[in-house]
Amino acid sequence: MNRLVDIEEAAALLSSGHLVAIPTETVYGLAARADDEAALRSVFEAKGRPTTHPLIVHLASAADLDAWAAEVPPSARRLADVLWPGPLTLVVKRSARVLDAVTGGRETVAVRVPRHPLALELIRRVGPLAAPSANVFGRVSPTTAAHVLSEPFARDVAVLDGGACEVGLESTIVDVTSTIPTLLRPGGVSVETIEDVLGAPIADGRDGESRAPGMMASHYAPRARVIALREGEGEGELVGRVARLVPRAETLYAELRRLDAEGVDVIVIELPSEEGLGLAIADRIRRAAGP
Ligand code: TXA
Ligand code: MG
Repeated sequence: MNRLVDIEEAAALLSSGHLVAIPTETVYGLAARADDEAALRSVFEAKGRPTTHPLIVHLASAADLDAWAAEVPPSARRLADVLWPGPLTLVVKRSARVLDAVTGGRETVAVRVPRHPLALELIRRVGPLAAPSANVFGRVSPTTAAHVLSEPFARDVAVLDGGACEVGLESTIVDVTSTIPTLLRPGGVSVETIEDVLGAPIADGRDGESRAPGMMASHYAPRARVIALREGEGEGELVGRVARLVPRAETLYAELRRLDAEGVDVIVIELPSEEGLGLAIADRIRRAAGP
């Protein structure tokens, strides 16, 4: 296939069980209808992703939360009301309608309302969409349609071009099934903002694989070797073509992909301070530098 489609065609393809790569404000997603078991299976196949790594379901509005969650705690309602549409994913107890193909058989489901107008329009037309980032498992997430078209599965999927992603990093994931909401993945909404909205601190649940499967140490990796430097730290002796990168959320992934395409051997990146979006940026740089 390997082609760009407009929203009409994207809606028709999704409705008939095909995959479409869609723009969101965070990164491009590889979307299937969340109620289409066969299409969901092809998402995992296209990405080469283990079926035990659950998908995020993208909803049209906060009002849809009740249909997908068996229980909506007050903290979840508050976060959804204030921060959706936006780069925040909530992990809630799943309702009966959620397919095992989405959750990998877990009792919880991850949901969010994206802020990109084309994504919202599509979801309104075809219903909730399950979508992981539109990259091969373990690689850097795509933030432009061109990035998606360079993925190995591109010939099998249509792409809806919505321009460069506004945020450029994946959504923040918060588990609201425990008494104290728990951060599973830092992302496009800062912890400070979430705590402001709740008026209380959240817990840090970033303990590797167990909570948000797929958050392993060497995720989001370019081909080049990445060296993450703390402020003031020296880079040591480096062999090969070396590039230095000043990270910004909106362009980090695009720059990693560009340097890979240029055949750079080593990318040296200084870690930002872990405040606001800096927490998510530093997290992704560390993973890109991981084993
Ligand atoms: O910004 C984003 O979140 C993008 C756009 C496309 O929405 N999506 C994205 O999806 O980053 P993906 O599949 O690359 O990452 C989803 C993460 C995975 O680490 C997965 O383990 C976690 O969400 N996740 C999904 N369902 C979960 C659940 N029920 N409990 C815990 N973690 C869950
Ligand atoms: Mg991903």
